[in-house]
Amino acid sequence: MGYENLQVERKDGVAVVTVSRPKKLNALNTKTIDEIDAIFTALASDDEVRGVVVTGAGEKAFVAGADIEELAGLDAESGRALSERGHRVFDRIEWLGKPVVAAINGFALGGGCELALACHVRLASENASLGTPEVKLGLMCGYGGTQRLPRLVGRGAALEILLTGGRVGAEEALRLGLVNRVVPLEQLLPEAEALVREMIANGPLALRATLEAVHGGLDRPLAEAQEGEAQLFGELCASSDAGEGTSAFLEKRAPRFRGR
Ligand code: HXC
Repeated sequence: MGYENLQVERKDGVAVVTVSRPKKLNALNTKTIDEIDAIFTALASDDEVRGVVVTGAGEKAFVAGADIEELAGLDAESGRALSERGHRVFDRIEWLGKPVVAAINGFALGGGCELALACHVRLASENASLGTPEVKLGLMCGYGGTQRLPRLVGRGAALEILLTGGRVGAEEALRLGLVNRVVPLEQLLPEAEALVREMIANGPLALRATLEAVHGGLDRPLAEAQEGEAQLFGELCASSDAGEGTSAFLEKRAPRFRGR
């Protein structure tokens, strides 16, 4: 399928999804949200793809937010619907069942920051600048930011970002745990891809179960979440990948995982 506002490149098990509306700093209009929905739906069932990198076109912006032109005409009902649609699409990224790494190559503001938060791991270029400036528009985060940001960096740091609407540079984002690494811009995509490749060298069922345990468990009481972990661990033990992984270690050879 062709996309108007996304570039998608599949290479040896990794898909690189680039949000591409360069004249609007890759802002997320309805069409782009629809296309993100479509590509992540497709990637979920594409067995050839085992990990994903999400980035923005150009050297200035990852994604500068939701498209403000579209926000201008919203009322209570359409605003709520826009937010709920975004939640469903970004949840699809978080629940892909395969590692998704954001390569933040510049401004990641508002919905762009929220897109990065829905990814599993975030790498930033030195020129990256993150924030949630919605309050400056008289609005607030609506694509999960009020929930994912405090879960990632803690309530105090999140509230400073959310309530000031100010921007956080790459080094500050690293200090806060908002991003995992900062690298020069030209190394961002190679490093993000290498990180995904390191992950997908592991058993795909093990990765899927780990993602499910973390995302499904963090919002539950510890005992209940650990029950979920035990259930997933048990299921993995019955997989042929677990047999292969443990045998390979004992036989001092590299494992050949098949995702079964
Ligand atoms: C629509 C946008 C845009 C956006 C940039 N542009 N961000 N258009 N929506 N979010 C457009 C500009 O209007 C301009 O178009 C072109 O991209 C280049 O941007 P400039 O502003 O000229 O660039 P610069 O001066 O370098 O400033 C960069 C910037 C600034 C600091 C990133 O563009 C900016 O503040 N953008 C808005 C950031 C923001 O508020 N994001 C949150 C949106 S609300 P023209 O045609 O003039 O060249 C949101 C809500 C999510 O995300 C939740 C929804 C439920």
